[in-house]
Amino acid sequence: MSGHAHRHGHGTNHPQPESEQELRALFEQPSWEQRYASKPLVWSGNPNPQLVAEASGLAPGRALDIGSGEGADMIWLARQGWQVTGLDFSAVALERSAAHAEEAGVGESTQWRQGDVRTWSAGKERWDLVTSQFMHQPDGGMVAITRTLAAAVAEGGTLLVVGHHPGDVDTGLRWSIGGALFTPEELLPALDTDAWDITLEVREREVAGPEGDPVTVQDSVLLARHR
Ligand SMILES: C[S@@+](CC[C@H](N)C(=O)[O-])C[C@H]1O[C@@H](n2cnc3c(N)ncnc32)[C@H](O)[C@@H]1O
Repeated sequence: MSGHAHRHGHGTNHPQPESEQELRALFEQPSWEQRYASKPLVWSGNPNPQLVAEASGLAPGRALDIGSGEGADMIWLARQGWQVTGLDFSAVALERSAAHAEEAGVGESTQWRQGDVRTWSAGKERWDLVTSQFMHQPDGGMVAITRTLAAAVAEGGTLLVVGHHPGDVDTGLRWSIGGALFTPEELLPALDTDAWDITLEVREREVAGPEGDPVTVQDSVLLARHR
């Protein structure tokens, strides 16, 4: 997505953390609140390409977007006919994405919950599509999160987890902190291979580099269908 073309996230447009404590803090809610509050728009407003590629072929149902940010993916899904729930721990992001959804005329088919996905659980609720785009966690933390998300997928439903591949560090666009970038294979232990049809892929795409020149980045994609 073009919004991810700039140095960002885990990691990017923060200065490289100097201490372990500073590094950990980047993944916590206050840091994200500050980041969203610092600008009217952090991301591009365009839906993420791997979501568009995968969800375009699905019959719309109930979707859950984890780390929904400013809501671009949710708005796109809602326009395709999905009923979409967003989960994010940033109050600023939630407020902003709800305003964007209203402006886009999809307020009726979108809803938000504030929560930390590390402690969140689906309970008895299930969704036909669970998507997480560019959420990163230190120390392989995305494995536990992928397990939590898998438990939220209805039978016959789809799980899509996308993140920046560690190889992107070589582009100079991102730096990896605390091993937060992941390969698709690293997420595999989260899934029971008897219960899921799993596709693991590294997909290349071109984004604008720091000087506006084209740079090839790699998305780690885990796509799984619940049998
Ligand atoms: C890199 S942004 C991606 C936003 C959006 N998915 C996109 O692709 O534009 C990651 C989002 O995850 C949220 N987030 C990070 N850690 C989280 C956590 N532990 N629980 C809930 N939300 C979290 C952040 O507030 C942020 O909105």
